[in-house]
Amino acid sequence: MSFFFKSASLSFRQLKNSDKELYISLYTDPIVMQYIAEPLSKTTAARMFEAQLKPWGVKSTHMLNLVITEISSDLDIGVCGVVTRSLLSKQAEVGMVFLPEFHSKGYGTETLTRLSKYAFKELGYNKLSGPPFPSNKASIKIMQKSGYKFEATLRQNQFLNGKYHDTPFYTLLKDECTYLD
Ligand SMILES: CC(C)(COP(=O)(O)OP(=O)(O)OC[C@H]1O[C@@H](n2cnc3c(N)ncnc32)[C@H](O)[C@@H]1OP(=O)(O)O)[C@@H](O)C(=O)NCCC(=O)NCCS
Repeated sequence: MSFFFKSASLSFRQLKNSDKELYISLYTDPIVMQYIAEPLSKTTAARMFEAQLKPWGVKSTHMLNLVITEISSDLDIGVCGVVTRSLLSKQAEVGMVFLPEFHSKGYGTETLTRLSKYAFKELGYNKLSGPPFPSNKASIKIMQKSGYKFEATLRQNQFLNGKYHDTPFYTLLKDECTYLD
């Protein structure tokens, strides 16, 4: 199965071999990784990249990685994805990373709404979650703007910079998604 879709300014396609440089740039960048984890070494990022190239289906335990391309420039600017958390209750987690020069252009919100619609309509999920780092204000904002609701605090759920952090758990149900059409 091939995965491809578009929004107003962006297109989304499955990760392929030639995306290695983009992938490594993203996951080794201290700004991009600020609220996710310690930036990866190039070797670890390259190893992780290889693992992401496996064929994907909803039963996969790895993420469906989609490269985000800015249509106007034809530049690849980030990667987003969805990973199944429960097959039985059709739950998945969504995430995305953009190169720093493409932050705060509205692309995060555009990506999350389009990816959520695709995940509900084409991949068959019923509930999506995005667990942001508590001080990742941009991430929380794009979830709120895409209709995600704060559901709970996951206590000491992340370990970053030498300490545990609570995670505000935001979710969106298919029933309440207002942009499925
Ligand atoms: C988080 C991320 C995906 C957001 O994407 P983006 O394209 O920058 O987001 P948008 O431009 O659509 O929207 C960001 C919103 O947050 C707001 N924002 C950004 N930084 C903020 C801050 N420090 N405090 C408060 N609001 C902030 C912006 O003003 C904007 O709100 P607005 O549309 O009402 O003006 C992007 O910044 C990124 O890739 N970050 C690094 C990786 C990452 O943290 N991924 C998320 C992991 S959960």
